[in-house]
Amino acid sequence: MTDHNNAPLAGVIGWPIAHSLSPKLHGHWLARYNIKGWYLPLPVSEGNFEAALRAMPKIGFVGANVTMPHKERAFALADETSAVAQRLGAANTLVFDLQRGICADNTDGFGFIENLREARPGWDAAAGPVTVLGAGGACRAVVAALMDAGVSELRLLNRTKSRAETLRDEIASGINVHDWAEVEEAVSDASLVVNTTSMGMAGGPDLTLTLENLSPDALAADIVYAAGGTPFMKLAQSRGAETVDGLGMLLHQARPGFERWFGHAPEVDNALRAAVVGQGA
Ligand code: ATR
Repeated sequence: MTDHNNAPLAGVIGWPIAHSLSPKLHGHWLARYNIKGWYLPLPVSEGNFEAALRAMPKIGFVGANVTMPHKERAFALADETSAVAQRLGAANTLVFDLQRGICADNTDGFGFIENLREARPGWDAAAGPVTVLGAGGACRAVVAALMDAGVSELRLLNRTKSRAETLRDEIASGINVHDWAEVEEAVSDASLVVNTTSMGMAGGPDLTLTLENLSPDALAADIVYAAGGTPFMKLAQSRGAETVDGLGMLLHQARPGFERWFGHAPEVDNALRAAVVGQGA
């Protein structure tokens, strides 16, 4: 066997997957640390997911990232699951172990918190109320991580209130669910506001918030990436607040997987950002 054949394989499984930034991100790290390995985009439909997953350890894969729409199925098929994956019922990082089988973890919440800490060193989870907008899949990981980080008052607001109540019941009883009509009030004295809704996303509904009472001392976070900032971030910036975007969350959530597959703890820095989204990021 040549070195090429021995090089560990990893990749990201999703449908569709063409727009995923993960191959560029892991490719940058592999080159930077001079590691012989491969990280591939793997387009796998829902119907093919289980067969593809079970084949991967047999053809040289040491693990994989899993993205939409497979995160819940990956969790369900795993032989071992981390505590955080169990809490979320979803996995984004898999390790294939000869003895233990498919080991599933979820690093989305880790990525979110690490990104906050990078943007604002010394960020204190208990500094003031945290307001989270939304109640979809991505929101669950963010809310669980914030509660674990020690947020003292977490306000959750979603257009469909029952989804926020379900999220609270499944993730942490200490979460305070408010009516969507109270959104501007719930933002007014928050130290951190997180948008996990699809409002303002490319092709999504318009952003209908005003954030007129947002404190200039607040931090505003979006969990998606858009070149130049999302409409939510631009609005928060116009109110004087500092913002963080979903790119940093993506970069940081990738760290644990890379380290487990390729044996090197990678760094998130400007060179990585530039490699993933181009100059000036
Ligand atoms: P994901 O699972 O990827 O987070 P999702 O389940 O499609 O995404 O959720 C999108 C989020 O955006 C939801 O919280 C949704 O609110 P509903 O649960 O009421 O649908 C929210 N959302 C979408 N359009 C919205 C709008 N026009 N105003 C407010 N919230 C909106």
